[in-house]
Amino acid sequence: MRVLVTGGAGYIGTHTLIELIAAGHEPLVVDSFANSVPEALVRTGELVQRTIPFAECDVRERAALRAICADFNPEAVIHFAGLKAVGESEERPRDYYDVNVSGTLNLLAALEGTACKRIVFSSSATVYGVPQYLPYDEAHPCAPASVYAKTKHMAENILTDWQCANPQTAVTVLRYFNPVGAHGSARIGEDPQGIPNNLMPFIAQVAVGRRDRLMVFGDDYDTPDGTGVRDYIHVSDLARAHVAALGAAQTGTEVFNIGTGTGYSVLDMIGAFEKAAGCSIPYRITGRRAGDIAAMQADASRAADLLGWRAELGLAQMCASTWHWQRANPQGYNGE
Ligand code: UFG
Repeated sequence: MRVLVTGGAGYIGTHTLIELIAAGHEPLVVDSFANSVPEALVRTGELVQRTIPFAECDVRERAALRAICADFNPEAVIHFAGLKAVGESEERPRDYYDVNVSGTLNLLAALEGTACKRIVFSSSATVYGVPQYLPYDEAHPCAPASVYAKTKHMAENILTDWQCANPQTAVTVLRYFNPVGAHGSARIGEDPQGIPNNLMPFIAQVAVGRRDRLMVFGDDYDTPDGTGVRDYIHVSDLARAHVAALGAAQTGTEVFNIGTGTGYSVLDMIGAFEKAAGCSIPYRITGRRAGDIAAMQADASRAADLLGWRAELGLAQMCASTWHWQRANPQGYNGE
C-alpha cells in the first residue's frame, strides 16, 4: 500500500518505516523536523537499502499538506506527527492543541478526494489517566489529566467521528505504553533534544557520561520497591504493531493497547541497564514528579486476539539495544 507517514523521521516513525518496507509497503514521510533530523531518514534508508522519500511539511500547513496528499494519493496514513512532552504541554497548551488537534483536522481535510481508506493513529496510554484498575484494558474510562493527554484523546475522538461519517474507512487507534530500545543495527534510536524527560534515554545518557546521575522521582509509591512501575515496550515490537494494524479490519474504528503486559520499576530498569551496559548508573532518590502515577501496565490481549500482534522482545533486549545505540552515537544524530 502507499502509506503516508506523518512524523516519519521521529523515533517511532523511523523504526516503523523499516517494518513497513519489509512488509512491502510504499511509504512517503511528511515531517517538519521540529523534533527530528533528516539524517534519521538517511540512516533508515541505508538499513532498508533504498532512499526514503519525504516532504518537509508541518501538519499545520494545510495547503502544503493537501498538495502532498493529492500528489501521493495515499491508500493509508500512519499519523505520528505531534508534540509529546507532558510537562511542556502544560506550559504551551496552544501549541499542543494546534499541532496535535488542528494538525489532525488538517490531515483529514488534506485526505479528502484521495484513495485513503485507513488511518492508524499514534495515541498513548496516558489518555486513561489515574487507573481505576490495572492492567488497563481498552474499556477503562478515559480521564486525560495533562494537556498532552487531552490533545491525544481529542484526536482519537475526531478520528472516530470521521470514521463514523465515512463508513467505508477504518481507523485504528494504538495506545502506546512506554516505548524504549533501538534498532539492532544501532544506527537509529531515540535522540531527545535537551534534557531527556523520559527514564530510558536519561539512564542511557548517564551511562555514556553525558549526565552525572539519574534522579529517581520518588521511592514512596505503593509499588514493590516504592518506585514508579511502567510497561516498557521495545520500539521494534511497537513498529510491528503498526504494520499489523494496516492489515486489520477493513472498516470501523478499533482501539488497541500496545504494551507487553509486564511492569518494571525504576530500580528494575536501572538494574537491567547496568547489566546490559556493564557499568553502574549513579542515581539519587528525589521527590515525586508532579502528575506521575504509581504504576501502569497494559492488558494487551485485544491486540493479540484481533491483530495477531504481541510483543516479543524483553527487558534485556530493550536495555542492550538502547545501550548499543547510545554508545555508538553518544551525541545522537548530531555526532555526524
Ligand atoms: N523517572 C525517574 N527519573 C527520570 C525520568 C523518569 O525516576 O529522570 C520515572 C518516572 O517517575 C516514572 C518512570 O520513570 O515512574 C517512567 O517515566 P517516563 O517519563 O519515562 O514515562 P511516563 O510513564 O511518565 O510517560 C511516558 C511518556 C508519556 C506517555 C506515557 C504513556 O513520556 O508521553 O509514557 O504511558 F503518555
